Parts: sequence; structure tokens; C-alpha cells
Amino acid sequence: MKRSVNEITGSKRMRRNRRFDWSRRLVRENTVTCDDLIWPIFLVEGTNRTVPIASMPSVERMSVDKAVEAAKAAHDLGITSIATFPDIPISKRDDTGSAILDPNGLINQATIAIKKAVPDIGIITDVALDPFTSHGHDGILRNGHIINDETVEHVARAAVIQAEAGADIIAPSEMMDGRIGAIRDALDDAGFNDIAIMSYATKFASAFYGPYREAVSTGGLLQGDKKTYYLDPANSDEALRDCELDVFEGADMLMVKPGMPYLDIIHRVKERFEMPTFAYQVSGEYSMIMAGAEKGFLDKDRAMMEAMTAFKRAGCDGVLTYFAMDIARLLDKGWKP
Ligand code: PBG
Repeated sequence: MKRSVNEITGSKRMRRNRRFDWSRRLVRENTVTCDDLIWPIFLVEGTNRTVPIASMPSVERMSVDKAVEAAKAAHDLGITSIATFPDIPISKRDDTGSAILDPNGLINQATIAIKKAVPDIGIITDVALDPFTSHGHDGILRNGHIINDETVEHVARAAVIQAEAGADIIAPSEMMDGRIGAIRDALDDAGFNDIAIMSYATKFASAFYGPYREAVSTGGLLQGDKKTYYLDPANSDEALRDCELDVFEGADMLMVKPGMPYLDIIHRVKERFEMPTFAYQVSGEYSMIMAGAEKGFLDKDRAMMEAMTAFKRAGCDGVLTYFAMDIARLLDKGWKP
């Protein structure tokens, strides 16, 4: 028996609301604004210097003075905050990543300079050791093992130094056990009760970090992989346990990293913890879209905005994205979905 469509659907028609631009706008559930944007930038030593990154088209490492200009431009466009990552000279890297404790190091110099010039943009700093270690790992490496508790002491000290420079949010990305509580204690002991912690709570051992490792020159150094401390991409219950501990230890915000392959995790984290939740759209995600666009396989602006919308729909309050300036400029021009 062949039924008419009205018999099949009982006269329900999903397409009624989709007929016009105004009606699509009326029923739209999620929107992207500049309030959602955190811009990760790469720093390099020197002045008036920009250094391209081959695997990240249009992204450049910036010297501190250039980063200040960039921060001004970002603030003018309405971007909420900047996350800084340093590409420090190989000669300054060692087994324990001791350069992260230099109050005058690149991250801290940038924080001081940006805070002075653009006091109203948020500064988010990472305490992972990987840009500072000679072996490219996020922690202290001894006899082939990443030493958890010693690394935690190190990153907690780094957090205080970064707070002293003026960082607003400390974002630890190294996935050591107990780091959130240790950083909270260290910050509080030093009088930084107001400095927030954005935990890279669920950070997966991912292939999508490839271009970042070129950007901070850890790719060639990394011995082995990070599977003994980052999460297994196959696990989501375990990811929630990681979040639970971080919330318990005092995280103010939670992050899921990478972003787009892990939208299910974002959704579960937001539902379960009802915390400010963020995604890091990582370097590989950025470069895939850029490469696709360069080849003419997809429309960059539309792909970029669709990805952002997907993060919002999954439950994100904001996204760390290398597209932040592009998105902000597009929104400024009045872009509509
Ligand atoms: C390491 C760190 C990584 C990223 C930022 N900090 C991952 C890694 O190299 O293992 C990735 C960011 C990106 O890919 O955009 N602490």
C-alpha cells in the first residue's frame, strides 16, 4: 500500500519552519559571537618579528611587540582572551623544562606587555613543560618515565610565576594527576585567590596536534608518545572521571581537546558537570580546513563557522581557535548563517 506523505507524517512537516530566512532565524538554537572566542597565539623571541608556520597557513609566531599589536586588534574586534604558547630556542630547553620558571621568559614577558597595553583582554597561560623540555614531553622524563609528582611541583611553581606576571587564567595542559589541586594551593598560598584555573581536563592522545608541534618546535624532539598521560581517544567514561577529579580539586572551567572529533565528550561534560565548558579546536583541525580551502574542496568561511556552531550546539561556552581573528572579522562584517 502506497501512502501519501501526509498520511505518513500525519501532516507534520519539518520544512515549514525552514522556508524563509526570517523563520530559520526565528527557530535557530545556537549562535556564534565574539564572546565565544579565545585566540591561541605563538610567541617567538626578538622584536618586530613574525615567523610563519609551514603546516598552519596564515598563522605566524610573533615577537612580544607584535603580540601586543595583535592583542590590541583582537580586543578591538571583541575577542575575549588570548592563550599564549612559546617557541623558545632549543638551546634554552633541558631535561626538566627549567626555563618555564624564568619570570622573564617569553610567556611572562608577553603577559606583562599585553596586560600593560590592553588591560581588558584576558590572558590565559599554559604550564605544560613541553615547549621547554629537550625531549618534547609535558613533564619531567627519567628512565623513560614521565615523573608525575615532581612535574606537578614544577607546574604549580610555574603557575605562580605566570600569575605574578599578570595571567588571569592558568590553563594546565600536561594531564598529570593532582595538578589542579596543587596549582590551586600554590596560587592561594601566594595570594592569587582570584586567578582562575581552566583545566585541560580531557586531553586526548591525538594525531591532530601535529602542526602545533611544528609551531613550538617539539615535533622533532618528541621521544615516543604521550599515551601514558593523555587520554585514550577510545574512552569517554574515563574522560568524565578526569573532569570529576578536576572539578573536585578546584577547576573553574573545563576544556575538551581536540574539539571536533570529541563533540560527544563536550556534550557529556556539559550535561554532567554544568561547568563553563570549552573546546580547543586544535592545530590539525585548523590546518585541515585551511588545506581543504586552499585546494578548493570547501568554502573556508562556511566550514569555519559551521565548526564553531557545532561547538556551541554540543555545549561549549567558548572555543580556543586559531580562526578567532577570522571569525571576529567575519562577524564584524555582518556575517549571517
Ligand atoms: C602540549 C600541548 C599540545 C597542544 C598545546 N599544548 C599537544 C601536544 O603537543 O601534545 C596542542 C595544540 C594544538 O594542536 O593546537 N602541552
